[in-house]
Amino acid sequence: MGTRRVLVTGCSSGIGLAVAARLAKDELKRFKVVATMRDLGKRGPLEKAAVNNAGLGMIGPLECQSIDAMKELFDTNFFGLVRLVKEVFPDMKRRQSGHIVVLSSVMGTQGILFNDVYSASKFAVEGFCESLAVQALTFNIKTTVVEPGPVVTEFERKVYEDAENMDLSATDKETAKIFREIYLPYSKKIFASIGQTPEEVAEQAIKVITAKEPPLRHQTNRLYMPMTALKHADPTGRLPLDAFYKMTFKYDKVFNATLTMLHLLQRIRGKK
Ligand SMILES: NC(=O)c1ccc[n+]([C@@H]2O[C@H](COP(=O)([O-])OP(=O)(O)OC[C@H]3O[C@@H](n4cnc5c(N)ncnc54)[C@H](OP(=O)(O)O)[C@@H]3O)[C@@H](O)[C@H]2O)c1
Repeated sequence: MGTRRVLVTGCSSGIGLAVAARLAKDELKRFKVVATMRDLGKRGPLEKAAVNNAGLGMIGPLECQSIDAMKELFDTNFFGLVRLVKEVFPDMKRRQSGHIVVLSSVMGTQGILFNDVYSASKFAVEGFCESLAVQALTFNIKTTVVEPGPVVTEFERKVYEDAENMDLSATDKETAKIFREIYLPYSKKIFASIGQTPEEVAEQAIKVITAKEPPLRHQTNRLYMPMTALKHADPTGRLPLDAFYKMTFKYDKVFNATLTMLHLLQRIRGKK
């Protein structure tokens, strides 16, 4: 088997960079990375996979976010994927092979406080892929959405920097207080306690890319799975809603203690 080309979008940093580096380092020399859509048609077809990774984050009270910024986010997170698929799908169909791999998020399956628009963009990604996967299968093309929980990358740094500088005057005092005094410290603690490295996520993305029978969905963070499982446990949606509400506003001390414990366990694991 010769080298097979894999297209990875958004590989200047974070998960995309880690995925591209792992593919390029592949000891068996199975892969060649194509980093931009412009290079796609230059040297023959894309034999293996198209990895849609480029993405932006956005957090904060809805009243403080402009419609233009929301459109820009959708243009990258959702329409970026649509453009990529429109580009690679016809050739994959002709050759009856290929794999569309998409970096979604656990927030593509479950909404999280103050992540309304980001989460909506990832829900759009999930709906698109779930629909497309059926047609793709007819042409022997695989589809996988990779769903990381928190990952410590530029993404996290950028959203927190924006959040710190955010003008909260367009929202009411209580919402601003919840955002600054509850959401932001919690969120940072979650990243510090259960956040993965981009290399850890890349490792799992490579397993998905090289799998013979890749799954439609792959969550990368075991520690986050109990949260996403709540949604499937109760179709009315009450269980996850109640759990998130109580965890944030009622039993925050228990939640904080759990995060501290997870943080310690992660540090012990890291030392080993
Ligand atoms: N970090 C997390 O906690 C986390 C969790 C779940 C899912 N994800 C998802 O994982 C993916 C990668 O995120 P990351 O954490 O690795 O973030 P990152 O380090 O900020 O990398 C994002 C990449 O996307 C590119 N990008 C952003 N906007 C673009 C645009 N309009 N056109 C082309 N490229 C663009 C960036 O390039 P430039 O820097 O050149 O703009 C960069 O290479 C995203 O889809 C994100 O939603 C991240």
